[in-house]
Amino acid sequence: MKILVATEKPFAKAAVDGIREIAAAAGHELALLEKYTDKAQFIEAVADADALIVRSDKVTAEVIAAAPKLKIVVRAGAGYDNLDLAACTARGIVAMNTPGQNSNAVAELAIAMMIFMSRNRFTPGTGSEIQGKTLGIQAYGNVGKLVAAKAKALGMKVMAFDPYVPAEKMQEEGVSPAQSLEQMYESCDFISLHIPATPQTVGSIGYDLISRMPKGGCLVNTARKEVINEAELAKVLEERTDLKYVTDVAAATQAELDEKFGKRVFATPKKMGAETAEANVNAGLAAARQIVAYFAEGCTKFQLNK
Ligand code: 3PG
Repeated sequence: MKILVATEKPFAKAAVDGIREIAAAAGHELALLEKYTDKAQFIEAVADADALIVRSDKVTAEVIAAAPKLKIVVRAGAGYDNLDLAACTARGIVAMNTPGQNSNAVAELAIAMMIFMSRNRFTPGTGSEIQGKTLGIQAYGNVGKLVAAKAKALGMKVMAFDPYVPAEKMQEEGVSPAQSLEQMYESCDFISLHIPATPQTVGSIGYDLISRMPKGGCLVNTARKEVINEAELAKVLEERTDLKYVTDVAAATQAELDEKFGKRVFATPKKMGAETAEANVNAGLAAARQIVAYFAEGCTKFQLNK
């Protein structure tokens, strides 16, 4: 079988080498399309692929239609808002992600962002410490849990809101379950977002929630830019000159935010939450193993479109 790795943002070499070894050991062929600049290149490359590994690359209905032999797509990472699951299902293509494999890298970035913003983005002037501050984690999944553990080790008080996780589970891990999202925003110096982009969450973080944050509050977004209502974010930042926003996923209106709010906002130039060699190796190799297991045994663990 031919496995195509199509990554506009390439994996570290160690990850590509590992994927190649796993594919070869199972008798599969590997093709690599990295740093492509036009979706036409992607569309051309999938023409003879039986399996596909991507990162945030958009696997649209058009891509699926251009891949007549495709049987499995694995998003090497957690968020799968870049996969057209309906198009995959319509063609009987199995779609998977690799949950948890790059979580630590994202969690470390969320912590780094809190410190960066607390220290005036490493520019001169008196900053503040995160020790003793309260952190609210929105979605206590693979990343949220790791952020909580690291924040606790740094002396923060940690709260979390997640309708899918029992309060007792959070309490066992030393995290206070928030009564509601509103209560969490009202109680926390930092809010760290770990929700996926879904029809329910897109645009859900806006004026009502952000304006509840206490004086000096900082919203940290290592999730997806789409979950923010950017117009409402700008309105709050305008009214509340004490609040800050830091994001790993530059807002569509980032240039405007930067111009209006200066040092109170910061966006990474390119999404870098999972940009560590470790995360690339973990997620890339997991993706390759999942493909091999699917072809060898029909294993559909981690299938998203069951
Ligand atoms: C994820 O959903 O796994 C992260 O956002 C990482 O995305 P990336 O592979 O594009 O860096």
